[in-house]
Amino acid sequence: MRPLTIIGNWKMNGSLAANQQMLETLLTQGTQTLESRCHDLPIRVGLCVPYPYLPQAHHLLKNTKVALGAQDVSDHPNGAFTGDVSATMLQELGCAYVIVGHSERRQYHQENDTLVARKAKAALQAHMTPIICVGETEKEYEEGKTLVVVRRQLQAVIDLLQGQIASCIIAYEPVWAIGTGKVPTPAGAQEVHRELRLQLATFDAEAAAKVAILYGGSLKADNAKELLAMPDIDGGLVGGASLDAHEFLALCQAGI
Ligand code: PGA
Repeated sequence: MRPLTIIGNWKMNGSLAANQQMLETLLTQGTQTLESRCHDLPIRVGLCVPYPYLPQAHHLLKNTKVALGAQDVSDHPNGAFTGDVSATMLQELGCAYVIVGHSERRQYHQENDTLVARKAKAALQAHMTPIICVGETEKEYEEGKTLVVVRRQLQAVIDLLQGQIASCIIAYEPVWAIGTGKVPTPAGAQEVHRELRLQLATFDAEAAAKVAILYGGSLKADNAKELLAMPDIDGGLVGGASLDAHEFLALCQAGI
């Protein structure tokens, strides 16, 4: 069985004051939720915050049930890469997770499948868990290309990581569902998650059974229950709803 995993992605939001309030509320109001078990396993909760807020969030979250993560990482270990941040730096700042290949990185920063795979490898080398995002655009969805696209994106990662894929998290995020309020039907999302797991299984059945595949895209407390009840949906990657402590906790609760 795989643990329920709920990861928040703050994107480029927050301020020192707002973060402090959010995290304090999360920890004081969420004690019971954050210590819950699901399928007899402790739930995993994490928050991926903007780089400058990592020290603040690390300070407030250390020794709590909420793990820390970042939203991107360089594929290089160090050197002349102005503006980039290495996996070792993130690890030093307390990150357990790092999102790679988010559709906003693919769209606005022209990140391709090969680069995303290299970023995942860099994260693993620094002992962090990469959360590797895949997902089709609205046009690809309408043209019936969802599975072709997500399989291609996943295959690039499998090809580079090989056996290390067992230590990753995959997030299926249909681009048309991100921040739009549109969500696929639970059965529709389940079908994509199942296909991704089958693809992992053709490479390594043991890894396929172990890897968490999260759903992301307009996931909220009031639509999470049905999606998270699907057999191959192991949790959520949550954007907007992770900015508010009460909403985020209600969403975690919906999955338990
Ligand atoms: P959303 O974003 O929940 O605001 O749709 C999800 C994501 O982009 O990870």
